[in-house]
Amino acid sequence: MATTIAVLSQKGGTGKTTTVRTLTDVLRRVGLDVLAVDLDPQGNLSDYFDVPADADPTVADVLAGQAKAADAVHNDVLPANLGLAESELILSGKMGREMTLRRALRDVKRRYDVILIDCPPALGLLTVNAVVAADYALLSTEAQYFSLQGVEQALEVIELAKDNLHPDLEWLGVVMNIADMRTIHSREALGQLKERFGDKLFSTPIRSSIRYAESAERGISIIDYRPELGDDYLALAEEALERIGMGDESGRVAELRAELVPA
Ligand SMILES: Nc1ncnc2c1ncn2[C@@H]1O[C@H](COP(=O)(O)OP(=O)(O)OP(=O)(O)O)[C@@H](O)[C@H]1O
Ligand SMILES: [Mg+2]
Repeated sequence: MATTIAVLSQKGGTGKTTTVRTLTDVLRRVGLDVLAVDLDPQGNLSDYFDVPADADPTVADVLAGQAKAADAVHNDVLPANLGLAESELILSGKMGREMTLRRALRDVKRRYDVILIDCPPALGLLTVNAVVAADYALLSTEAQYFSLQGVEQALEVIELAKDNLHPDLEWLGVVMNIADMRTIHSREALGQLKERFGDKLFSTPIRSSIRYAESAERGISIIDYRPELGDDYLALAEEALERIGMGDESGRVAELRAELVPA
């Protein structure tokens, strides 16, 4: 049965989609079968993975109860498009609305080792569906003065889901993303997060670089485009796998790092 991880944040543009995309890539490279789920009507993750815009059915149909998850998987991606915004509205009026994705994914959980879910930039019903469907919630945050507040708000959603809907949900941790470590501002934000969250803060921040936009534009993973930068994600994957009890796979990521980014 797949281990499911939802990647969320309180606000937009914190690197969620890039995180899901790149972690999917890294985990596949060490031999894991990974399903990437796009739960954002913007469909950025689906674009990243080159799912055709007219792919049908999508996660919207799955949430609307009109398709099975297995039928909506295209090349190991469960894609989204703008239709998902409407599904969210319809969903909001239904019984068990927070459990819909969880129920739907049962259908595919057996086929994968890991399922990664990309959330939209809001803590609404779709994000709640993602965390309720997940075993672990991974928070992404930008390196800003106000990031601490955003992380606290996202944590509240996780706690609410845990208390009311899904007691086994675990908080995997928080990753500081798009961080320009040359600025005092970012270093202070990192210090704040470290002080507040201790070991829950992933030890490697994902450094900010224009190369991410370039690699996205070219459709090349950062791991291939600039391995020395992609190493941040390799480090994140190594740590995340360790935290979810996949020590062997974590070790394989460490080997991959040594290969791709010789010291
Ligand atoms: N480490 C990075 N350094 C610089 N730019 C980055 C980095 N990671 C992602 N980006 C860029 O920042 C933008 C936002 O990233 P991304 O789409 O991953 O964030 P998001 O949290 O999914 O956004 P949204 O909330 O809109 O879904 C994109 O243009 C992406 O290419
Ligand atoms: Mg996104």
